[in-house]
Amino acid sequence: MYIVFASSECTPWAKTGGLADVVGALPSALVRLGHRVSTFLPYYRQVAKAVPNPPVVLQSVTVPFNYYNRFVRILDGGVRDGVQHYFVDCPEMFDRETLYGPPSGDYWDNAERFGLLSRAVIEACKIMGVPDVFHVHDWQTAMLAVLLRSTYFFDPVLQRVPAVLSIHNAGYQGWFPPRTMEMLCLPWDMFTFTKLEQNDTVNFLKGGIVYADQLTTVSETYAREIQTEEFGNGLDELFRQRSSDLTGILNGVDYTEWDPSVDNHIAAHYSATRLAGKKECRRDLLHAFGLHDVAESTAVIGVVSRFATQKGFDFLVAILEELVKQDIVLVLLGNGEPYYENLLREAAAQHPTKVRVQVKYDNTIAHKIEAGADIFLMPSRYEPCGLNQIYSLRYGTVPVVRATGGLEDTIDEQPFGGGNGFKFWGYDPAAFLDAILRALGTFQNKKEWLAMMQRGMQQEFSWEKAAREYVRVYERAVQNRA
Ligand code: ADP
Ligand code: GLC
Repeated sequence: MYIVFASSECTPWAKTGGLADVVGALPSALVRLGHRVSTFLPYYRQVAKAVPNPPVVLQSVTVPFNYYNRFVRILDGGVRDGVQHYFVDCPEMFDRETLYGPPSGDYWDNAERFGLLSRAVIEACKIMGVPDVFHVHDWQTAMLAVLLRSTYFFDPVLQRVPAVLSIHNAGYQGWFPPRTMEMLCLPWDMFTFTKLEQNDTVNFLKGGIVYADQLTTVSETYAREIQTEEFGNGLDELFRQRSSDLTGILNGVDYTEWDPSVDNHIAAHYSATRLAGKKECRRDLLHAFGLHDVAESTAVIGVVSRFATQKGFDFLVAILEELVKQDIVLVLLGNGEPYYENLLREAAAQHPTKVRVQVKYDNTIAHKIEAGADIFLMPSRYEPCGLNQIYSLRYGTVPVVRATGGLEDTIDEQPFGGGNGFKFWGYDPAAFLDAILRALGTFQNKKEWLAMMQRGMQQEFSWEKAAREYVRVYERAVQNRA
């Protein structure tokens, strides 16, 4: 099968979160199963820095808007692990400081930027080769699924080509003003509640859910959760309507990137059977955060995250005063909502020997935390899959998580030991603190702790299994459109 991925993120070039990790790894797993895959990614400023002057594949692809055309170039990003990468070059849209906008919000023309991306991929494929299936991701490329079944409806080469939409996060939907319909040359009769309209906005993700042939999301529990009012973000009814076309597929891990036995970002290599290196990584991590003389019996607790309400930082802030009374140090890496950046900076200023925070995006530090911490926190309010807790397992860094979405599906707490981490339920900071205290209790029992670390380290969350499930979804989509 020939599969074309259209995405707004892809490692190693453009990443704000797990979407990039998935689009960076799933295609090569599909190639290993014998399929052909190309990806299309905007030629952002970050990408241009990493890949200056790549060969031009198409000099000018026309992307029409209501009163004007834009013209994009398709650049050859090269072949990695058997996957052909293309970049969509449109400097006025993508040569900007960040991917989506300043910390305070979004770029004002994101509807145009990502509408353009979706349409450019369709147009480019018409010239370079039409795939058997388009695989689009989140609201940013959901419009591709809408375009295929609307403005491209009568196109003979696209009529039988399905689109599969993966929902990595239903909390971000891409809401835009009604005039977006005209800008994207979409007919007004699609601006209804059963199609693209929601609360008098054009909702890109909703459009994708309505028009994509098959839907996937990134864990089985999240696939169920989004069909409820609590997690559906206003789309639960639609998810319920499409539930027979919705599959939860747990993300895998790229163990060439995230495994302490090969990780080049960390101070020493180690594995489940040769753990000595982890101590060195712990020392190195504490050094990177300017912490000295931390006793071995003190638990090093790590966090790597976007600072967003989704990630449960309000829980963390609520229990911080109690937490610092314990024998712990807390190291945090992240950026995002200025509100949490400031709160966490203040907490670090108040407890300089216990709490340290680095407000930035830094892949090396992220790896150092995975390797050097004893405990990893993920108290997310919701978590479609979550990758960091799965990385933590491989690094022997025991996760403490809120039981939701992919966290529920990957972390297992057993009442009398035997699991791979600690969980709490409900929206309750006290329950979070309690879970951390259970972890700290077990941490004091070296034998039990070691056994728990090793159980997690030996688990395998392979992309191959996930890729096979995606192929089944692609096949279903192709059959239903035949
Ligand atoms: P989400 O996609 O919701 O942010 P995931 O757990 O799926 O959550 O993926 C987050 C990814 O982004 C991980 O690879 C994590 O290491 C990375 N990450 C998040 N914040 C940072 C940061 N400040 N610096 C470096 N990497 C980060
Ligand atoms: C999203 C989700 C996260 C998931 C990632 C990759 O950003 O928030 O839970 O792991 O996408 O699918």
